[in-house]
Amino acid sequence: MSSIEAFLARADELERSAAAAFDAAADAAALTDARNRFLGRTNSERAGLKDALGSLPGPDKPAAGRRYNELQQRLDALFETAEARVAAASRTISDTLDRTMPARATWQGSVHPVIQVINEIADIFRELGFTIALGPEVEHEWYNFGALNFPADHPAMDLHDTLYVNRPGLLMRTHTSPVQMRTLQRYAPPVRVLAPGNVYRRDFFDATHAPMFTQLEGLAIDEGVSFADLKATLMHFVKRFYGPGVPVRFGPSYFPFTEPSAQMGVQVDLNDGRGKRWMEIMGCGLVHPAVLESAGVDSERYSGWAFGMGPARIAMSRHVIPDIRLFYDSDVRFLEQFR
Ligand code: DAH
Repeated sequence: MSSIEAFLARADELERSAAAAFDAAADAAALTDARNRFLGRTNSERAGLKDALGSLPGPDKPAAGRRYNELQQRLDALFETAEARVAAASRTISDTLDRTMPARATWQGSVHPVIQVINEIADIFRELGFTIALGPEVEHEWYNFGALNFPADHPAMDLHDTLYVNRPGLLMRTHTSPVQMRTLQRYAPPVRVLAPGNVYRRDFFDATHAPMFTQLEGLAIDEGVSFADLKATLMHFVKRFYGPGVPVRFGPSYFPFTEPSAQMGVQVDLNDGRGKRWMEIMGCGLVHPAVLESAGVDSERYSGWAFGMGPARIAMSRHVIPDIRLFYDSDVRFLEQFR
C-alpha cells in the first residue's frame, strides 16, 4: 500500500468514526468530548492526519490535501448537525417551563383598610394632643360594665350579648370603653387618649354585624371641659376626615357612662341600591361623673368627653362598601385593593 493510499484509508476511517461518535453523543458534554477527540487543534485524530499529510512525499500532497480539506468540511457539517440535535433535545426539557409566564413577585402584605382608617383618625387626633392607649381584650366585668356605670341588670351584660370567659368575672370586652377607666387609674388629668382595639359580642356575622370588630375609643379629661368642646372637636374631625362638604348628623342618644349622650352620623350612599342614608359612626357624650369617681378622679374639678367609633363602618362609608364582612374575612383579593 502506497503512503497516499494509507493516508486516504485513514481519512475514511476518521470520517466514519467521527460521524458515529457525533451521532452517538446524547448531550452537549458528550458532543464536546467527541469534538475534542476528533477535531481538536492538538492531540486529535484530525491533528494526527494533518501531521501524516505533512510527511507524505511531495507529489502525493495535492491529492491528500484535497481530501483533507473535504474531510474537514464534512466533519464540521456533521458536528453542526449533531449540535443542533443535542440543542433541540435539551430544549424539550426546558420547554416544561413556561418562559412567557410573568415573574413571580415577592408577596407583600399591606396595612388592613380598617387599620388604615384608625391610623388616619389617629393622625388627626394626634394634632389635637391625643396619644394612643391600649387595654386587654380579655377584660374584667368591672372595667367593662361596673366602672362604666352600667346598672347591675343592664341587658348588655346578658349571656345573649356578651362572651364570658370560663373564669369568674372575666369576659371578652364588648367595647373599648374599659380603656377609659384603665387610663384614668394610671394617669392624672389632663388626659387625652385614643384607644383602638378589637371587641367581641355574641352577634351574628351579617352585612352590618360581626362577633369581633374594631372600635376606636376617645377620651379627653381636663378642667372646664364642656359639651361645646366635644361637639367642636368631633365636627373638626369629621370635616378633616371626610372633607368639608360632608352632611353630618349630631343627635341625642343614651349610654350609661355619658351624660348627656350623643351620636354622630354621616350621610352615605353605599351603592347597594338603598340610596343615600344616615350611617352612625360613633357614640359620644360628656363622661358621667360616676365614671370619674370610679377612677378616683374628682368630678367636681374635672370633666370631659368621650366617644366610641366604629372604624370598619367608617371604612365602609369611605370606600363605598356595603358589607362589613368583607373587612373581616381576610380575602386577599379584597384587601389588596387598599394597598
Ligand atoms: N362603648 C360604646 C359602644 O360600644 C360606644 C361609646 C359611646 C363609647 C359613647 C364612648 C361614648 O366612649 O362616650 O356602643
